[in-house]
Amino acid sequence: MPIRQLLRAQTREPHERLERVALLAELASGDITLPRYLRYLERMHAFHAAVDNALLTHLPLAYGLARLNQGARLAFDLHALGASAMPAPQPLRRAADLLASSPAAVWGVLYVLEGARLGSQVLLRRNAANVAVCRAHAFIEGEGARTGSYWRDFCLLLEAGAALDDQQALPAAANRTFSLLGDWLEDSP
Ligand code: HEM
Repeated sequence: MPIRQLLRAQTREPHERLERVALLAELASGDITLPRYLRYLERMHAFHAAVDNALLTHLPLAYGLARLNQGARLAFDLHALGASAMPAPQPLRRAADLLASSPAAVWGVLYVLEGARLGSQVLLRRNAANVAVCRAHAFIEGEGARTGSYWRDFCLLLEAGAALDDQQALPAAANRTFSLLGDWLEDSP
């Protein structure tokens, strides 16, 4: 089975769980309020600050640093809405550091971060008429019309890069990443 299919099959449940997290469900409804949208951006920014930082020194050579661009987009949206980014708290940083425990695990984490861009396109369309989201949506817009080809490029990197790694470690790391994000977003009152 191609690695991407393996990951897709073994992360279906955590993905569905994540979609039910309140902040994401509100965003998916198209009716999220400005304060809740701000909360979502703040939490996602802290999550990326922690996870991107954990990945930095472990990135596969083939995976360009420029692809870790979602944190900068979140900072841009927060700034556009007059909010400031909150630093990632220590427990979140520690948990993120544990994700990148092996080369295979790093690919599992990257799969989740890259796949999130696909879901964001759905969120962007559902919020086309949402005043709060229309004010600042650099993060969920992401690569925009290029998202499909951007994702296919990543899948090629994944298949080539992770082929020789321990393939059981990939879905385990992806699942831990989904859980970390789900818990972190749930933790938000
Ligand atoms: C309510 C929020 C979300 C919705 C509605 C959603 C929806 C979707 C949809 C429709 C796809 C398939 C797209 C396609 O095949 O073209 C997808 C794929 C994916 N999403 Fe989400 N998503 C959401 C949030 C997230 C988040 C927050 C993450 C990770 C942090 C994530 C990770 C992934 C991954 C890894 C895939 C790729 C699955 C594959 O291998 O095909 N999603 N999402």
